[in-house]
Amino acid sequence: MKKQILVTGGLGFIGSHTVVELIQENYEPVIVDNLCNSKTEVLNRIKKITGVKPEFIELDVRDEEKLSKVFASHNIFAVIHFAGLKAVGESVQKPQLYYDNNIGSTEVLLKVMDKYNVKNIVFSSSATVYGNPKRVPIYETDPVGEFTNPYAETKVRIEEMLIKLSKQDPKMNIAILRYFNPIGAHKSGLMGEDPRGIPNNLMPYVTQVAVGKLPELSIFGNDYPTKDGTGVRDYIHVVDLAIGHVLTLKKIEQNPGLVIYNLGTGVGTSVLELVHAFEEANGIKIAYKMVGRRPGDVPECYANADKAYRELGFKTKYNIVDCCRDSWNWQKNNPKGYDK
Ligand code: NAD
Ligand code: UFG
Repeated sequence: MKKQILVTGGLGFIGSHTVVELIQENYEPVIVDNLCNSKTEVLNRIKKITGVKPEFIELDVRDEEKLSKVFASHNIFAVIHFAGLKAVGESVQKPQLYYDNNIGSTEVLLKVMDKYNVKNIVFSSSATVYGNPKRVPIYETDPVGEFTNPYAETKVRIEEMLIKLSKQDPKMNIAILRYFNPIGAHKSGLMGEDPRGIPNNLMPYVTQVAVGKLPELSIFGNDYPTKDGTGVRDYIHVVDLAIGHVLTLKKIEQNPGLVIYNLGTGVGTSVLELVHAFEEANGIKIAYKMVGRRPGDVPECYANADKAYRELGFKTKYNIVDCCRDSWNWQKNNPKGYDK
């Protein structure tokens, strides 16, 4: 019997790539998503890649009644909880929306899991919980909780909620995964990141400059104390990240209790290095200009990725050039994202 995995937010960028890996590893994903930042076309793409169209139920995770019905009618082994809003700028404008959607959905989910005696959960956290890191690379034991925006605050609060729950209920297996910067796309060119409006994040901005949708990239700051003055991040290929979730499920099967992992590459790449890697990988020039720093940005953020390697066997396969090639392959084949 295949294990059923409830994937909240499973039509989104990271969720959809994880669903593909789950199917290929013989799990049976059951997707719930309210489509606030995704499209059902993703299901057709998953079918094209895997031969399987996963079950999808449209619902908001905060809808306790609908969510309960999903648990009642399935035999859920574990939940991977991707559902959430993630735009830092929007969270500053609409903090209540972020508290309600991200924290509220997790509260409802945990309540329903308890009702149906489901004890296994993997949660999408973020390197943002480290705030402005005191050192790089960042270890899981480094201080968390100095958030700089409501989005980050929701991740910190949900982590606290899960840690508290693990103490109250020793039967719970809880994996908190702190993602660094996911980019790239499925190598088929059928799935990738499809942001609404003008992208906030670097890679989708770069690909939209490359495809001619946007005139030039603004590089936010070249006076940071980094190798070339531009911000340094740990860019991880979304397929590597997706595989990290499958490995985490294998860990959960061993009843580990509470576990926390950085999912990153351990390599810091500057904005200029990423732009040059993109140009080299794809033979396209990216027009850019230097502008002032973006408020809230930190100079450097990259992982020490040893713990996930030691305990999960997690090792990234793709480097920054692979990421740039796959992001571009997705964008050029789907200039309008999942829209026709
Ligand atoms: P995404 O927006 O592509 O996917 C999130 C999905 O959740 C979307 O399909 C959206 O429709 C759905 N959703 C949102 N609120 C919902 C709700 N209340 N009920 C049901 N569905 C809901 O984002 P992503 O990049 O795939 O991120 C997935 C998770 O990983 C998020 O929790 C995000 O905060 C976290 N994360 C993302 C990044 C990143 O840079 N992409 C970095 C660190 C952490
Ligand atoms: N940048 C630019 N120009 C742009 C966009 C970004 O120069 O148009 C720079 C930023 O200043 C930063 C780097 O590119 O130095 C990366 O910026 P992103 O916006 O792509 O990513 P962040 O590191 O700021 O944040 C991302 C997610 C957060 C998450 C964090 C850590 O947006 O939600 O990674 O996981 F918390």
